[in-house]
Amino acid sequence: MRGRVCLVTGASSGIGRETARGLVRMGARVILVARDRSRGEAARAEIAREPGGGQAELLVADLSSQRALVELAAAVRRTHPRLHVLIHNAAIIPRQREVTVDGLEMQFAVNHMAPFLLTRLLLPLLRASAPARIVVTASQVEARGQIAWEDLQSERNYTPLGAYFQSKLANVLFTYELARRLTGTGVTANCLHPGVIDTNLLCDYLGQRRAVGRLLNRLRYPGPAEGARTTLRLASDPALEGVSGRYFRPEGEALSSPASRDPQAQRRLWQVSEELIRVPLDLADPLDPIA
Ligand SMILES: NC(=O)c1ccc[n+]([C@@H]2O[C@H](COP(=O)([O-])OP(=O)(O)OC[C@H]3O[C@@H](n4cnc5c(N)ncnc54)[C@H](OP(=O)(O)O)[C@@H]3O)[C@@H](O)[C@H]2O)c1
Repeated sequence: MRGRVCLVTGASSGIGRETARGLVRMGARVILVARDRSRGEAARAEIAREPGGGQAELLVADLSSQRALVELAAAVRRTHPRLHVLIHNAAIIPRQREVTVDGLEMQFAVNHMAPFLLTRLLLPLLRASAPARIVVTASQVEARGQIAWEDLQSERNYTPLGAYFQSKLANVLFTYELARRLTGTGVTANCLHPGVIDTNLLCDYLGQRRAVGRLLNRLRYPGPAEGARTTLRLASDPALEGVSGRYFRPEGEALSSPASRDPQAQRRLWQVSEELIRVPLDLADPLDPIA
């Protein structure tokens, strides 16, 4: 990965942090994106000491804000003439329904809209850097997800896991539609389930980080380094050059749920997401709908 520039969201902890570390060890120049400067800087400083000749830098952005996403993309463009790998890894499961500054439900915004909008904003750079890869961290729980087309923001009915499953199904639908729209551009898009991994995500949702962490540990769920393996493979494996629109698990390529493979739902989610963009997209790649 020497000479390759990679961006990882949610790099302050868990799978994202280990993904950033793995890429630096492979010699890449890695932009870690974190919402909290001190947690992000702690991760960056630790990862920068890894052997392998890579570099780690930090950009701070709260992915729940569309304005912050625009500023993040602008900062990336300003500092990097090339971007070869974009990894959408950040996610959150708030226990109570939360609303973002843009008026969207938090999980829908961070887990789905942020990958959608950031991709659109960085696509011109990715295209100019082709061959380039977009990697979306979904989850096997996509198979339990349903898109509530009439209540996408969970205004009428919010359950933390219902919104999470919806957002993870959205990750897969988005990846497939994106891959279709990127055909022939030299930019690929794939998504993955990383395994069931001992990280903050579930502990934060259950509300007792330490106790749940100890339990997961005792149950011997693999740690974040194991969880980063599939993401690292999709980001770097030469055998996957040109492979696009696929779903992977730690064991290898797999079939995602029938709901995720519905082309009508893929197109519909794209259109609805576009309508939910609240910021000007002047610099974004239009990716016009394919007739
Ligand atoms: N762990 C599992 O078993 C599992 C299974 C399937 C899929 N996944 C997926 O794996 C990915 C990584 O999750 P993880 O398990 O590694 O959990 P994690 O340790 O909680 O990591 C999530 C990351 O997202 C960041 N984040 C959350 N909200 C953000 C925001 N508004 N702006 C910027 N960053 C934000 C967090 O930042 P802070 O450090 O500031 O909180 C953290 O770095 C997620 O997409 C998750 O859905 C995980």
